Amino acid sequence: MTTIVEPTTNTRLLAWVSEWAEIFQPNDIYWCDGSAEEYDRLAGLLVETGTFTKLNEAKRPNSYLALSDPADTARVEERTFICSTDEADAGPNNNWREPTAMKAELLELFTGSMRGRTMYVVPFSMGPLGSPIAHIGVQLTDSAYVAASMRTMTRMGAGALNALGDGDWVPCLHSVGYPLVDGRTEVPWPCDGDNKFISHFPETKEIWSYGSGYGGNALLGKKCFALRIASTMARRDGWLAEHMLIIGVTPPKGEKRYIAAAFPSACGKTNMAMMIPSLPGWKVETIGDDIAWMKFGPDGELRAINPEAGFFGVAPGTSDQTNPNAMETLSGNCVFTNVAKTEDGDVWWEDMTPDAPARLTDWRGETWTPESDTPASHPNARFTAPVDQCPSVAPEWEDPAGVPISAILFGGRRATNVPLVTEAKDWNHGVFLGSIMSSEKTAAAAGTVGDVRFDPFAMLPFCGYNMADYFQHWLNLGDSSNGAASAAKLPKLFWVNWFRRDEDGSFMWPGFGENARILKYVLERLAGNGDVIETAIGNIPTADSIDIGGLDLDDETMNKLLAVDSESWQQEVALIREHFATFGDRLPASLAQQLDQLEQQLVA
Ligand code: OXD
Ligand code: MN
Repeated sequence: MTTIVEPTTNTRLLAWVSEWAEIFQPNDIYWCDGSAEEYDRLAGLLVETGTFTKLNEAKRPNSYLALSDPADTARVEERTFICSTDEADAGPNNNWREPTAMKAELLELFTGSMRGRTMYVVPFSMGPLGSPIAHIGVQLTDSAYVAASMRTMTRMGAGALNALGDGDWVPCLHSVGYPLVDGRTEVPWPCDGDNKFISHFPETKEIWSYGSGYGGNALLGKKCFALRIASTMARRDGWLAEHMLIIGVTPPKGEKRYIAAAFPSACGKTNMAMMIPSLPGWKVETIGDDIAWMKFGPDGELRAINPEAGFFGVAPGTSDQTNPNAMETLSGNCVFTNVAKTEDGDVWWEDMTPDAPARLTDWRGETWTPESDTPASHPNARFTAPVDQCPSVAPEWEDPAGVPISAILFGGRRATNVPLVTEAKDWNHGVFLGSIMSSEKTAAAAGTVGDVRFDPFAMLPFCGYNMADYFQHWLNLGDSSNGAASAAKLPKLFWVNWFRRDEDGSFMWPGFGENARILKYVLERLAGNGDVIETAIGNIPTADSIDIGGLDLDDETMNKLLAVDSESWQQEVALIREHFATFGDRLPASLAQQLDQLEQQLVA
């Protein structure tokens, strides 16, 4: 085994790396420095092994296409485990395994799993280097694809090691589970398709991931660290790690305000983060599209950073119509995974252009034409692109102090019941609204109440502990009498729904850049303006307090978009009761009381 120079004097880190090298048994150990030269070298290696195909340099410079094994195309929630000592601490929202047993099982799989391969040591910072809100992780991985992707998605390499110094890091172990032994040769996408484990040990802040090379299963800084483990760190230390975008919103001649917004996966977070507002003179700037880490500053203001440095967005559906800023972001220096390839060496995915090209190579590597009955790109095909390439990126997106959050939006995809925008009566009521957030399981026309899946705070797959305790944590944080928050500076909380449908199944709200009209309303409310009607579920705008000038929306539609129908809300309350019942005694009493109050107000 040849070992390359170790670029740190952190003796605990050195000991940890050599301890795991003994177990994984790689051929080589390579410490990533995060340089552009290193990225090019890794990309070259990936081209040699067939993992990467270089795209047409003239069309998409310095960009690559990767096609995964069809058995490894998405996050695997059923193979994701929270391994707390006490099962109740994982909660009904997680798959639980006893930590010692889980480690024993994984140790067997990890032993020798890197034979014939290089073990990459990937130091990374989640958040701007040196930010008081950032944290450091080190990932050991046998995937060059992961090492290269981590350079785009995080601040990876020498800078992170420097920021770490002699300090502590979140240890992240990752093996694709495909040792090159017994005559086995390399394949373009090594994985152990039938045997994946994405395991988290919140009490020791460790991540052990085996068998998958894809996205959130393998780029361990993202969902595993920045959400599941960070949510437990945040609970312990009084901050928030959330599945939220962050934007700056500037009205014409007005002051910039920062808004965070939680939406479940595939509900348009990336589109909203890069929105081009339809309202003249308004500006929306991007800080993050997926994750927000927020801490109260010394003055009691909630300050947020985007812990990531890249976008890992869903490609299908992204176009010059839906998200022109994303399209520009993707003009070079990207990795595309599981999209289709055009005949001239570029990429294509469903709805990228109004008409599909006449001939493509699909994500399985097969010839594809518009007559084919399967999609050309996988529905979960992704792009990996640096945040700083986004034309709408805010100049302050890397400010180590973070940006002050004035409002937080919670949103889901609901055909019925949930109004276009609802303002919480206060922080605790906002926590209640976050806890009852839900999204339609499918985008089927005119969904019914029965189709909802509760996804509190859009964190269902990402909360690393019992969600009832997570609700309590949110309640505690907003309590300025015992925490770091300042009552005067607490963000206002809103519930939004862009997806309400008419009786004929069509969307009533145009969405995309027109959502700026709701941002305008939110800013007016922050300034103490705009009218509301108090309803059982919260404060709804009067129809004329939303600026719909220039939109083809009649009063009737506006009323339907804002309606709170008592009868269907009573049905919803019954579903919320079932949802709350899954948490048993652990549910904060104040949330149960809020549900009772809601029910009483509906029948009143
Ligand atoms: C993501 C997700 O990849 O939420 O961001 O699934
Ligand atoms: Mn996400």
